Amino acid sequence: MTDNPNPTAKASGRIGPPFWLLAELTYRCPLQCPYCSNPLDFDNTRQELTTDEWVRVLRQGREMGAAQLGFSGGEPLVRQDLAELIAEARHLGYYSNLITSGLGLTEAKVQSFQNAGLDHIQVSFQASDPELNNAVAGSRKAFEQKLAMARAVKDAGYPMVLNFVIHRHNIHQMNDIIELCDRLDADYVELATCQYYGWAFKNREGLMPSREQLVKAEAEVNACRERLAAAGSLMKLIFVTPDYYEERPKACMNGWGSLFLTVAPDGTALPCHSARLLPIDFPNVRESGLSSIWYDSAGFNYYRGDSWMPEPCRSCDEKGKDFGGCRCQAYLLTGNADNADPVCSKSPHHDRILAARRAADHATTGLEDLTYRNPENSRLFFRG
Ligand code: FES
Repeated sequence: MTDNPNPTAKASGRIGPPFWLLAELTYRCPLQCPYCSNPLDFDNTRQELTTDEWVRVLRQGREMGAAQLGFSGGEPLVRQDLAELIAEARHLGYYSNLITSGLGLTEAKVQSFQNAGLDHIQVSFQASDPELNNAVAGSRKAFEQKLAMARAVKDAGYPMVLNFVIHRHNIHQMNDIIELCDRLDADYVELATCQYYGWAFKNREGLMPSREQLVKAEAEVNACRERLAAAGSLMKLIFVTPDYYEERPKACMNGWGSLFLTVAPDGTALPCHSARLLPIDFPNVRESGLSSIWYDSAGFNYYRGDSWMPEPCRSCDEKGKDFGGCRCQAYLLTGNADNADPVCSKSPHHDRILAARRAADHATTGLEDLTYRNPENSRLFFRG
Protein backbone atom coordinates (compact mmCIF):
# COMPACT_ATOMS: atom_id res chain seq x y z
CA MET A 1 0.00 0.00 0.00
CA THR A 2 2.19 2.83 -1.17
CA ASP A 3 -0.09 4.86 -3.43
CA ASN A 4 -2.14 7.55 -1.85
CA PRO A 5 -5.72 6.32 -2.11
CA ASN A 6 -7.08 9.51 -0.76
CA PRO A 7 -5.99 12.41 -2.98
CA THR A 8 -9.04 14.50 -2.10
CA ALA A 9 -7.84 14.99 1.46
CA LYS A 10 -4.48 16.21 0.23
CA ALA A 11 -5.98 18.48 -2.37
CA SER A 12 -8.61 19.96 -0.10
CA GLY A 13 -6.18 22.40 1.50
CA ARG A 14 -8.12 22.15 4.73
CA ILE A 15 -5.42 20.43 6.75
CA GLY A 16 -4.16 22.43 9.70
CA PRO A 17 -0.68 21.98 11.18
CA PRO A 18 0.12 19.32 13.78
CA PHE A 19 -0.47 20.60 17.31
CA TRP A 20 1.15 17.71 19.21
CA LEU A 21 4.57 16.34 18.41
CA LEU A 22 5.47 13.11 20.19
CA ALA A 23 9.20 12.39 20.12
CA GLU A 24 9.69 8.70 20.85
CA LEU A 25 13.38 9.08 21.56
CA THR A 26 14.20 5.39 21.98
CA TYR A 27 12.70 1.93 22.30
CA ARG A 28 15.27 1.06 24.96
CA CYS A 29 13.70 0.63 28.39
CA PRO A 30 14.77 -0.95 31.69
CA LEU A 31 11.22 -2.22 32.34
CA GLN A 32 9.26 -5.04 30.72
CA CYS A 33 5.60 -4.01 31.04
CA PRO A 34 3.39 -6.54 29.22
CA TYR A 35 1.08 -3.73 28.03
CA CYS A 36 3.72 -1.55 26.39
CA SER A 37 2.44 0.22 23.26
CA ASN A 38 5.78 -0.14 21.44
CA PRO A 39 5.81 -2.50 18.46
CA LEU A 40 6.38 -6.19 19.15
CA ASP A 41 9.49 -6.14 16.95
CA PHE A 42 10.98 -3.04 18.60
CA ASP A 43 14.35 -4.75 19.01
CA ASN A 44 14.66 -4.87 15.23
CA THR A 45 14.79 -1.07 15.14
CA ARG A 46 18.34 0.18 15.10
CA GLN A 47 19.92 3.53 14.46
CA GLU A 48 18.11 5.98 16.68
CA LEU A 49 18.04 9.54 15.40
CA THR A 50 21.08 11.52 16.50
CA THR A 51 20.85 14.65 18.61
CA ASP A 52 21.25 16.84 15.52
CA GLU A 53 18.50 14.95 13.71
CA TRP A 54 16.12 15.37 16.66
CA VAL A 55 16.95 19.08 16.86
CA ARG A 56 16.08 19.41 13.17
CA VAL A 57 12.76 17.61 13.74
CA LEU A 58 11.90 19.87 16.69
CA ARG A 59 12.71 22.99 14.66
CA GLN A 60 10.66 21.86 11.69
CA GLY A 61 7.73 20.95 13.94
CA ARG A 62 7.75 24.34 15.62
CA GLU A 63 8.03 26.15 12.28
CA MET A 64 4.86 24.34 11.23
CA GLY A 65 3.04 25.45 14.38
CA ALA A 66 3.36 22.47 16.75
CA ALA A 67 3.06 23.73 20.33
CA GLN A 68 3.01 20.65 22.59
CA LEU A 69 5.97 18.31 22.68
CA GLY A 70 6.12 14.95 24.45
CA PHE A 71 9.38 13.10 25.11
CA SER A 72 8.61 9.42 25.44
CA GLY A 73 9.99 6.03 24.51
CA GLY A 74 10.78 3.31 25.61
CA GLU A 75 12.36 5.19 28.46
CA PRO A 76 13.51 8.62 27.26
CA LEU A 77 15.92 8.93 30.20
CA VAL A 78 18.30 6.45 28.57
CA ARG A 79 19.12 9.14 26.00
CA GLN A 80 22.17 11.05 27.25
CA ASP A 81 21.13 14.11 25.23
CA LEU A 82 17.73 14.58 26.88
CA ALA A 83 18.66 17.82 28.69
CA GLU A 84 20.02 19.20 25.42
CA LEU A 85 16.79 18.37 23.59
CA ILE A 86 14.73 19.91 26.40
CA ALA A 87 16.79 23.09 26.16
CA GLU A 88 16.19 23.21 22.42
CA ALA A 89 12.46 22.69 22.97
CA ARG A 90 12.38 25.59 25.42
CA HIS A 91 14.38 27.77 23.06
CA LEU A 92 11.87 27.02 20.29
CA GLY A 93 8.89 27.80 22.53
CA TYR A 94 7.33 24.35 22.94
CA TYR A 95 5.40 23.29 26.04
CA SER A 96 7.38 20.15 26.83
CA ASN A 97 6.35 17.04 28.75
CA LEU A 98 8.55 14.15 29.86
CA ILE A 99 6.73 10.81 30.04
CA THR A 100 8.88 8.51 32.15
CA SER A 101 8.93 5.39 34.30
CA GLY A 102 11.19 7.26 36.73
CA LEU A 103 13.87 4.57 36.32
CA GLY A 104 17.19 6.30 35.72
CA LEU A 105 15.91 9.60 37.10
CA THR A 106 17.77 11.34 39.93
CA GLU A 107 17.20 14.54 41.84
CA ALA A 108 20.13 16.05 39.94
CA LYS A 109 18.54 15.15 36.61
CA VAL A 110 15.20 16.65 37.64
CA GLN A 111 17.11 19.80 38.46
CA SER A 112 19.01 19.81 35.18
CA PHE A 113 15.80 19.25 33.18
CA GLN A 114 14.17 22.08 35.06
CA ASN A 115 17.13 24.35 34.35
CA ALA A 116 16.88 23.36 30.69
CA GLY A 117 13.23 24.46 30.67
CA LEU A 118 11.13 21.27 30.96
CA ASP A 119 7.50 22.20 31.68
CA HIS A 120 5.94 18.97 32.91
CA ILE A 121 6.87 15.44 34.10
CA GLN A 122 4.59 12.41 34.26
CA VAL A 123 5.74 9.37 36.25
CA SER A 124 4.14 5.99 35.62
CA PHE A 125 3.44 3.31 38.24
CA GLN A 126 2.35 -0.30 37.79
CA ALA A 127 0.50 -0.86 41.10
CA SER A 128 0.02 0.42 44.66
CA ASP A 129 2.43 -2.03 46.30
CA PRO A 130 6.02 -3.04 45.58
CA GLU A 131 5.30 -6.73 44.96
CA LEU A 132 2.78 -6.29 42.18
CA ASN A 133 4.44 -3.15 40.80
CA ASN A 134 7.82 -4.84 40.47
CA ALA A 135 6.37 -8.09 39.11
CA VAL A 136 4.55 -6.24 36.30
CA ALA A 137 7.52 -3.95 35.60
CA GLY A 138 10.01 -6.81 35.70
CA SER A 139 12.34 -4.89 38.02
CA ARG A 140 12.94 -5.48 41.72
CA LYS A 141 13.76 -1.87 42.56
CA ALA A 142 11.20 -0.08 40.43
CA PHE A 143 8.62 0.81 43.08
CA GLU A 144 10.96 2.47 45.60
CA GLN A 145 12.65 4.39 42.80
CA LYS A 146 9.30 5.62 41.46
CA LEU A 147 8.20 6.79 44.90
CA ALA A 148 11.46 8.69 45.38
CA MET A 149 11.25 10.30 41.95
CA ALA A 150 7.58 11.25 42.28
CA ARG A 151 8.60 13.13 45.44
CA ALA A 152 11.63 14.67 43.72
CA VAL A 153 9.43 15.98 40.91
CA LYS A 154 7.09 17.61 43.40
CA ASP A 155 9.96 19.00 45.49
CA ALA A 156 11.28 20.69 42.36
CA GLY A 157 7.99 22.59 42.12
CA TYR A 158 6.37 20.59 39.33
CA PRO A 159 2.82 19.32 39.73
CA MET A 160 2.94 15.61 40.61
CA VAL A 161 1.34 13.80 37.68
CA LEU A 162 1.07 10.04 38.10
CA ASN A 163 -0.12 7.46 35.62
CA PHE A 164 -1.32 3.95 36.44
CA VAL A 165 -2.18 1.53 33.63
CA ILE A 166 -5.12 -0.49 34.90
CA HIS A 167 -5.75 -4.14 33.97
CA ARG A 168 -7.32 -7.22 35.50
CA HIS A 169 -4.36 -7.82 37.87
CA ASN A 170 -4.40 -4.41 39.58
CA ILE A 171 -7.98 -3.20 39.07
CA HIS A 172 -8.87 -4.42 42.58
CA GLN A 173 -6.37 -1.89 43.97
CA MET A 174 -8.28 1.28 43.12
CA ASN A 175 -8.71 2.37 46.75
CA ASP A 176 -5.09 1.56 47.58
CA ILE A 177 -3.76 3.33 44.49
CA ILE A 178 -5.72 6.47 45.26
CA GLU A 179 -4.67 6.33 48.91
CA LEU A 180 -1.03 6.08 47.82
CA CYS A 181 -1.47 9.07 45.52
CA ASP A 182 -3.11 11.04 48.31
CA ARG A 183 -0.21 10.21 50.65
CA LEU A 184 2.24 11.36 47.99
CA ASP A 185 0.23 14.58 47.60
CA ALA A 186 -0.25 13.98 43.88
CA ASP A 187 -1.93 16.69 41.83
CA TYR A 188 -3.18 14.64 38.86
CA VAL A 189 -3.68 10.89 38.70
CA GLU A 190 -4.51 9.12 35.49
CA LEU A 191 -6.06 5.68 36.00
CA ALA A 192 -5.94 4.52 32.42
CA THR A 193 -7.35 1.11 31.61
CA CYS A 194 -5.19 -0.69 29.12
CA GLN A 195 -5.54 0.14 25.43
CA TYR A 196 -4.98 -2.97 23.36
CA TYR A 197 -2.14 -2.16 20.98
CA GLY A 198 1.42 -3.49 20.77
CA TRP A 199 2.24 -5.80 23.68
CA ALA A 200 -1.14 -5.15 25.29
CA PHE A 201 -2.89 -6.59 22.24
CA LYS A 202 -0.63 -9.63 22.39
CA ASN A 203 -1.56 -10.05 26.08
CA ARG A 204 -5.15 -8.88 25.83
CA GLU A 205 -6.75 -11.99 27.22
CA GLY A 206 -4.54 -11.85 30.29
CA LEU A 207 -5.01 -8.10 30.84
CA MET A 208 -8.59 -7.19 30.00
CA PRO A 209 -10.79 -6.73 33.08
CA SER A 210 -14.27 -8.19 33.19
CA ARG A 211 -17.24 -5.83 33.09
CA GLU A 212 -17.90 -6.67 36.74
CA GLN A 213 -14.36 -5.62 37.70
CA LEU A 214 -14.69 -2.45 35.69
CA VAL A 215 -18.02 -1.38 37.18
CA LYS A 216 -16.71 -1.97 40.70
CA ALA A 217 -13.52 -0.02 40.00
CA GLU A 218 -15.38 2.95 38.56
CA ALA A 219 -17.70 3.05 41.58
CA GLU A 220 -14.66 2.99 43.88
CA VAL A 221 -13.03 5.85 41.99
CA ASN A 222 -16.23 7.89 42.20
CA ALA A 223 -16.53 7.24 45.94
CA CYS A 224 -12.87 8.25 46.43
CA ARG A 225 -13.46 11.43 44.45
CA GLU A 226 -16.28 12.37 46.81
CA ARG A 227 -14.25 11.53 49.92
CA LEU A 228 -11.29 13.55 48.67
CA ALA A 229 -13.45 16.53 47.75
CA ALA A 230 -15.10 16.44 51.19
CA ALA A 231 -11.63 16.43 52.79
CA GLY A 232 -10.63 19.47 50.73
CA SER A 233 -8.17 17.59 48.49
CA LEU A 234 -7.46 19.18 45.14
CA MET A 235 -6.13 15.95 43.61
CA LYS A 236 -7.72 15.28 40.22
CA LEU A 237 -8.58 11.67 39.38
CA ILE A 238 -8.99 10.79 35.73
CA PHE A 239 -10.44 7.34 35.09
CA VAL A 240 -10.10 6.26 31.47
CA THR A 241 -12.41 3.37 30.62
CA PRO A 242 -11.45 0.85 27.93
CA ASP A 243 -13.28 1.38 24.68
CA TYR A 244 -13.81 -2.40 24.45
CA TYR A 245 -16.77 -1.80 26.79
CA GLU A 246 -18.23 1.03 24.75
CA GLU A 247 -20.78 0.86 21.92
CA ARG A 248 -19.23 3.70 19.94
CA PRO A 249 -15.54 4.05 19.11
CA LYS A 250 -13.23 6.76 20.36
CA ALA A 251 -12.29 9.58 17.99
CA CYS A 252 -8.77 8.19 17.87
CA MET A 253 -6.07 10.87 17.62
CA ASN A 254 -8.94 13.29 16.99
CA GLY A 255 -8.86 11.99 13.42
CA TRP A 256 -5.97 10.64 11.36
CA GLY A 257 -3.34 13.27 10.57
CA SER A 258 -5.35 16.03 12.19
CA LEU A 259 -3.43 17.06 15.33
CA PHE A 260 -0.87 14.40 16.26
CA LEU A 261 2.48 13.63 14.73
CA THR A 262 4.68 10.92 16.23
CA VAL A 263 8.31 10.44 15.31
CA ALA A 264 9.61 6.96 16.19
CA PRO A 265 13.20 6.39 17.40
CA ASP A 266 14.45 5.57 13.89
CA GLY A 267 12.81 8.64 12.38
CA THR A 268 9.68 7.01 10.99
CA ALA A 269 6.91 9.61 11.07
CA LEU A 270 3.49 8.29 12.11
CA PRO A 271 -0.03 9.68 12.62
CA CYS A 272 -0.21 7.72 15.92
CA HIS A 273 2.21 5.69 18.03
CA SER A 274 0.82 2.35 16.76
CA ALA A 275 0.51 3.02 13.04
CA ARG A 276 3.75 1.32 12.02
CA LEU A 277 1.94 -2.01 12.37
CA LEU A 278 -0.26 -1.04 9.39
CA PRO A 279 0.66 -2.16 5.87
CA ILE A 280 1.31 1.43 4.81
CA ASP A 281 4.66 2.98 3.89
CA PHE A 282 5.30 5.82 6.28
CA PRO A 283 7.93 8.46 5.55
CA ASN A 284 11.11 9.03 7.53
CA VAL A 285 12.38 12.38 8.78
CA ARG A 286 15.85 11.40 7.53
CA GLU A 287 14.53 11.50 3.97
CA SER A 288 11.83 14.22 4.00
CA GLY A 289 11.06 17.44 5.82
CA LEU A 290 8.29 17.35 8.41
CA SER A 291 6.09 19.72 6.44
CA SER A 292 6.06 17.58 3.30
CA ILE A 293 5.55 14.48 5.47
CA TRP A 294 2.53 16.04 7.16
CA TYR A 295 0.85 17.66 4.18
CA ASP A 296 1.93 15.58 1.20
CA SER A 297 2.91 12.04 2.16
CA ALA A 298 0.67 9.15 1.20
CA GLY A 299 0.85 7.75 4.75
CA PHE A 300 -0.49 10.89 6.42
CA ASN A 301 -3.21 11.38 3.79
CA TYR A 302 -4.35 7.78 3.87
CA TYR A 303 -7.26 8.21 6.26
CA ARG A 304 -7.79 11.95 6.27
CA GLY A 305 -11.31 13.17 5.69
CA ASP A 306 -14.08 10.65 5.09
CA SER A 307 -13.90 9.72 1.42
CA TRP A 308 -11.94 6.53 2.31
CA MET A 309 -14.76 5.24 4.51
CA PRO A 310 -16.71 2.15 3.55
CA GLU A 311 -20.15 1.46 4.99
CA PRO A 312 -21.44 1.61 7.68
CA CYS A 313 -19.25 4.66 8.43
CA ARG A 314 -19.79 6.35 5.06
CA SER A 315 -23.48 7.07 5.64
CA CYS A 316 -23.30 7.26 9.44
CA ASP A 317 -24.47 10.52 11.00
CA GLU A 318 -21.81 10.14 13.72
CA LYS A 319 -18.81 9.96 11.38
CA GLY A 320 -17.94 13.59 12.03
CA LYS A 321 -17.71 12.78 15.72
CA ASP A 322 -15.66 9.58 15.84
CA PHE A 323 -14.07 9.53 12.32
CA GLY A 324 -14.79 5.81 12.06
CA GLY A 325 -12.84 5.10 15.27
CA CYS A 326 -9.32 3.76 15.35
CA ARG A 327 -7.55 2.50 12.18
CA CYS A 328 -5.03 0.46 14.18
CA GLN A 329 -7.78 -1.24 16.17
CA ALA A 330 -9.71 -2.00 12.96
CA TYR A 331 -6.57 -3.58 11.52
CA LEU A 332 -5.71 -5.57 14.62
CA LEU A 333 -9.23 -6.94 14.95
CA THR A 334 -10.29 -7.42 11.33
CA GLY A 335 -7.06 -7.49 9.29
CA ASN A 336 -8.21 -4.45 7.26
CA ALA A 337 -7.64 -0.92 8.57
CA ASP A 338 -10.36 0.46 6.23
CA ASN A 339 -13.08 -1.23 8.25
CA ALA A 340 -15.18 0.50 10.87
CA ASP A 341 -13.65 0.13 14.31
CA PRO A 342 -15.26 -3.06 15.69
CA VAL A 343 -15.93 -1.26 18.97
CA CYS A 344 -18.89 0.33 17.16
CA SER A 345 -22.06 -1.71 17.60
CA LYS A 346 -22.93 -0.86 13.96
CA SER A 347 -19.75 -2.58 12.74
CA PRO A 348 -20.24 -5.98 11.08
CA HIS A 349 -17.18 -7.04 13.12
CA HIS A 350 -18.54 -6.02 16.50
CA ASP A 351 -18.72 -9.73 17.42
CA ARG A 352 -14.90 -9.62 17.94
CA ILE A 353 -15.42 -7.14 20.77
CA LEU A 354 -18.25 -9.18 22.24
CA ALA A 355 -16.02 -12.28 22.14
CA ALA A 356 -13.23 -10.37 23.94
CA ARG A 357 -15.69 -9.29 26.63
CA ARG A 358 -16.87 -12.89 27.11
CA ALA A 359 -13.28 -14.10 27.29
CA ALA A 360 -12.55 -11.48 29.98
CA ASP A 361 -15.40 -12.86 32.08
CA HIS A 362 -13.76 -16.30 32.18
CA ALA A 363 -10.04 -15.53 31.92
CA THR A 364 -7.75 -17.35 34.34
CA THR A 365 -4.44 -16.03 33.01
CA GLY A 366 -1.89 -15.27 35.71
CA LEU A 367 0.90 -12.71 35.60
CA GLU A 368 3.32 -15.54 34.85
CA ASP A 369 1.42 -16.35 31.65
CA LEU A 370 1.88 -12.90 30.11
CA THR A 371 4.47 -12.19 27.43
CA TYR A 372 6.73 -9.50 28.83
CA ARG A 373 8.12 -6.71 26.70
CA ASN A 374 11.84 -7.35 26.51
CA PRO A 375 14.45 -7.63 23.74
CA GLU A 376 14.51 -11.42 23.96
CA ASN A 377 10.75 -11.78 23.40
CA SER A 378 10.88 -9.07 20.74
CA ARG A 379 13.52 -11.04 18.81
CA LEU A 380 11.22 -14.07 18.85
CA PHE A 381 8.64 -12.02 16.94
CA PHE A 382 10.78 -10.77 14.13
CA ARG A 383 12.85 -13.92 13.77
CA GLY A 384 9.68 -16.06 13.81
FE1 FES B 1 -3.51 4.29 15.44
FE2 FES B 1 -5.87 4.69 16.68
S1 FES B 1 -3.97 4.01 17.56
S2 FES B 1 -5.31 5.22 14.63
